[in-house]
Amino acid sequence: MTNAIIQFKQVTKQYDNDPAVLDQVSFEIERGKFYTLLGPSGCGKTTILRLIAGFTEATKGDIFFNGKKINDVPANKRQVNTVFQDYALFPHLNVFENVAFGLRIKKMKNADIQQKVKEALSFVNLEGYETREIREMSGGQRQRVAIARAIVNEPEVILLDEPLSALDLKLRTEMQYELRELQRRLGITFIFVTHDQEEALAMSDEIFVLNKGIIQQSGTPIDIYDEPINRFVADFIGESNIVEGKMIKDYLVEFVGGQFECVDRGLNPNESVDIVIRPEDLEITTLERGKLQVRVDSQLFRGVHYEISCYDKDGNEWLVHSTKKAAVGDEIGLYFDPEAIHVMRFGETEADFDRRLEAYSAGDAHEQ
Ligand SMILES: Nc1ncnc2c1ncn2[C@@H]1O[C@H](COP(=O)(O)OP(=O)(O)OP(=O)(O)O)[C@@H](O)[C@H]1O
Ligand SMILES: [Mg+2]
Repeated sequence: MTNAIIQFKQVTKQYDNDPAVLDQVSFEIERGKFYTLLGPSGCGKTTILRLIAGFTEATKGDIFFNGKKINDVPANKRQVNTVFQDYALFPHLNVFENVAFGLRIKKMKNADIQQKVKEALSFVNLEGYETREIREMSGGQRQRVAIARAIVNEPEVILLDEPLSALDLKLRTEMQYELRELQRRLGITFIFVTHDQEEALAMSDEIFVLNKGIIQQSGTPIDIYDEPINRFVADFIGESNIVEGKMIKDYLVEFVGGQFECVDRGLNPNESVDIVIRPEDLEITTLERGKLQVRVDSQLFRGVHYEISCYDKDGNEWLVHSTKKAAVGDEIGLYFDPEAIHVMRFGETEADFDRRLEAYSAGDAHEQ
């Protein structure tokens, strides 16, 4: 028995004869967690929200809510509310009436409406703003009205489409805390869309990284940061050093002319791979102790650490985050542990990875 509240099974979305906007996307959303859809502009984030909300239909595949197929269930019959990117508040209604709107449509009794709107506004710290006009509210306050309007309907799932993108950095950080706190207090499932990787890492229980209509990887922020599955994810999430290499055999990989012990296995002997090492996993050391020999090109002080850019003899750039200083022009060594190396198969996605692991395990069982 799964705890999934929403499931996508091989969902494809295509407009006319254009290439698919979503290509056989499968995932599960568990009840009560904070999910983030993360990816560059045009990768299909809003399309996934629209499919969940029922504003558009899947071309192929099935969508389930609480275990029931909902492909044909109209938007107003789904237990879902959306906070749109531009908030889509009603400019001619005051704060109270914006929040009350859904309840009036449901023909709820006036006394109950008063009570529920009061609760919703207090949840988002907007008590006392009932009679304010929308145009008299700041960006952050409008955003809270939009959230109050969503939660007042007591949906099982709230969809939030880049709700913080219009806010300045300080307010945005504040709202990140507030939203996360609100989700914990309400215990409702949140599906949040952003193209900001730091925001995704800070807020989410689970992240789905999307590119070109395909889920590249899903997992906790730490999983995705520490074990990016391919070059796209490694590049999109945090800063990385990425070079091409060759898997010699299990636990041994070659790059920049050297062979290095690693913790990866299950690839083909001599298979070409992408290698990722995070800047904070590189340690500045002597030329002799270094596994890589590089020349320091530039150095920036970043507050907590120095960001040092170096080049190896093949012309690859290596970014190092270090509390130690280096001198521009110096030849230095870079040391890293076997665990710091992440080996990735070219262009592999999560689905490919799962298939490969399955085949590999089956192979293991065969040998025994
Ligand atoms: N009604 C439509 N007709 C044709 N193509 C569409 C339609 N709606 C969206 N698309 C296309 O689908 C793709 C995905 O769009 P979507 O809005 O899901 O992207 P997104 O990830 O939300 O991007 P952004 O970060 O810019 O909001 C885009 O290439 C877009 O042009
Ligand atoms: Mg969008």
